[in-house]
Amino acid sequence: MALFISFEGIDGSGKSTQIRLLESYLCKQGVSVVVAREPGGTEVGNTIRQILLHSKNTRLKPMSELLLYYASRYQNLHEKILPALTADQWVLCDRFADASMAYQGYGRGIRLDFIRLLDQEVIQKRIPDLTLYIDIDPLIGLSRARGRNQQSRHDEGRFENESVEFFTKVREGYLRLAKDNPLRIKTIDGDQSIEAVHRDILRHLPSGGG
Ligand code: ADP
Ligand code: TYD
Repeated sequence: MALFISFEGIDGSGKSTQIRLLESYLCKQGVSVVVAREPGGTEVGNTIRQILLHSKNTRLKPMSELLLYYASRYQNLHEKILPALTADQWVLCDRFADASMAYQGYGRGIRLDFIRLLDQEVIQKRIPDLTLYIDIDPLIGLSRARGRNQQSRHDEGRFENESVEFFTKVREGYLRLAKDNPLRIKTIDGDQSIEAVHRDILRHLPSGGG
């Protein structure tokens, strides 16, 4: 059966790097894989991504931010994720609903109950089969993300301007979510070499899955 796997973690934890490695591992095993990301991944989602991440948008309110993430998520789910799963392709998604809980809920202080309600209406029961949460100290994650973004042509700096305190709250949120959902969310130590993180990730795949 095709699996829906989401990758979570604060910025710079190594999600994109690990998705690339897992994608190539699975392809070598003959598994058909689709990579998705949030925000973005569809035409509408990419336009929403520009609003969410551009550093000039300093006046975006937390509630507007939350609803934009969910608008992008709904498009992603219906245009990309569900069709891929139906076609028996595995989906590796760079962030999904847990990110809204961690960033907008624990980070910005929006009521968790309200985000749960959005989940019920927007994603319904199609939560990931497996979530790989890459845990990293915010100081390490941020310095990695800044190094990467300096080399990028796109202005996606809005979150980069957030404080270490903000990312510490987000991290605590992720750890809480992992504790509350031990069967689905697996915590991986991100402060290891890229190869070691990849090996840990492979250990969490169901046997026969690749
Ligand atoms: P994310 O997608 O979680 O923001 P990336 O995969 O883009 O993180 O990684 C951010 C930066 O850190 C990249 O330049 C990447 O090469 C580097 N990086 C990723 N994983 C590691 C690691 N385990 N150790 C050191 N550097 C890493
Ligand atoms: P992403 O491109 O994955 O950033 P990075 O590669 O640096 O980890 O995500 C963009 C930003 O959007 C990131 O700072 C986290 C934030 N975000 C939320 O605040 N809520 C959400 O629901 C999602 C999906 C992302």
